[in-house]
Amino acid sequence: MQKRETWGSRSGFILAAVGSAIGLGNIWRFPYMAYENGGGAFLIPYFVAMLLAGIPFMMLEFGLGHKFRGSAPKIFASISKRWEWLGWWQVLVAFVIACYYVVVIAWAIDYFLLSFTQGWTADPKGFFFGEFLGLTDSPLNLGDIQWSIFGAAAFAWLVAFLAVFTGIRGGIERANKIFMPILFILVLVFIGRGVMLDGAADGLNWLFRPDFSALTDGKVWADAFGQIFFSLSLGFAIMLSYSSYLPKESDVSNNACMTVFINCGFSLLAGVMIFSVLGYMAAQQGVPISEVAGGGVGLAFITLPTAINLMPMPVFFGVLFFLALMFAGLSSMISITEAVVSAIIDKLAMPRRQAATLVCGVGFIISTVFTTGGGLLLLDIVDHFVNNFGILFGGLAEIVFISWFCNLEALRKHINTVSDFSVSSVWNVCLRFITPMMLGFMVISNFITDLSENYGGYSDTAILLFGWMILFACIVLSMTFTCRQCAFHEYVSTNQHFRNRR
Ligand code: ALA
Repeated sequence: MQKRETWGSRSGFILAAVGSAIGLGNIWRFPYMAYENGGGAFLIPYFVAMLLAGIPFMMLEFGLGHKFRGSAPKIFASISKRWEWLGWWQVLVAFVIACYYVVVIAWAIDYFLLSFTQGWTADPKGFFFGEFLGLTDSPLNLGDIQWSIFGAAAFAWLVAFLAVFTGIRGGIERANKIFMPILFILVLVFIGRGVMLDGAADGLNWLFRPDFSALTDGKVWADAFGQIFFSLSLGFAIMLSYSSYLPKESDVSNNACMTVFINCGFSLLAGVMIFSVLGYMAAQQGVPISEVAGGGVGLAFITLPTAINLMPMPVFFGVLFFLALMFAGLSSMISITEAVVSAIIDKLAMPRRQAATLVCGVGFIISTVFTTGGGLLLLDIVDHFVNNFGILFGGLAEIVFISWFCNLEALRKHINTVSDFSVSSVWNVCLRFITPMMLGFMVISNFITDLSENYGGYSDTAILLFGWMILFACIVLSMTFTCRQCAFHEYVSTNQHFRNRR
């Protein structure tokens, strides 16, 4: 059997894990979520979710990866051959995410180039939907490929491909050692100038103004937990795969805490970055912040360019912001790709280079569909379903399986024998009760909402085809991959003791 690659250093692993966690989700999702869900008061459910779900789940994934030394399907197959499908489900969800995530990075790359001349014109909204995306009226009407987006997507795939193709130390670790420090510097420099803008303080007041009544709203809590899972790359095969490359004598608990704290700290920085700009923009236009605040695609590609047009140093702010978005996205993209590549390597005993070429080649072809005029609408539907069901269900099934049907105590002991500090049995309580309860609540309430109304007002056909059918295809494919009798068998029989025998 081939020897498994390992990270070159502890800092290399942490930077890679942080690089995966910090992504588009931190920059455009966190600030708006905090704003929408009670401002400063959102930080309470957010930190509760971080402590009770984020850290325990991160320790669980690092512990599993370290103990079983395999990609997600291999880990679950090692515990019980019947649960291998769960690993494939997570891997397929990661693959679907990679196919559209790369396109958002492509937009950031194009906007980085445009920011030298504010090429998004004096009407950023018209430019973005019109000339840039060539947006059609329906996700079923794809329109033409937008070649500038296609080219940038090809570049982003190439970066991910080169990192994964080159391997853990030489590729992924090295890329993150370059990207992460640059990302932090970009954001800090942006903030250093951004908070001095007129009105920036008002923006920050809005973001952090506590509205404690929000704490009684279940949706606020669900949003906080959802944000923690997506942002920490938990439940979709990534952290399992990354931690499977830890050398035998590696800490687990401290690494998990550091990854979570750095990620959440970065989210706060991103909040300060975005809201200082929104405060400035509101002051310039003489409107309340609520009129300029928004999230997601609109925030990054319409609101920010509009604000940058009004700023004293537009090139400086534009270049910094879109470069930061690009680096944050690329480092996450690399991790999503690796989650898939490592699964193929483990399953088919395929050489890394071949597996990387296969995954990136197929991924690139599929992502072309998101570079068309209907791409944004398609992306919106796929993202909604994959986030709300794909990740949450994968995470829930993993936690329930490991904490109720396996020997969680044995895993805790394993973590404690290798880690800098010991994890107490509170960890078991979090994983057995608190985290699954929150995840279960979210999956059920999302189901009820999505069954009662079409997401985003899209047509039945679009929702069926790009929402439910994609999830169904993931189920069918994960079963199919599980049935193929391949390389895992020898490994399976040696780890059966981890299952609880009742
Ligand atoms: N964790 C990554 C993000 O926040 C996927 O975008």
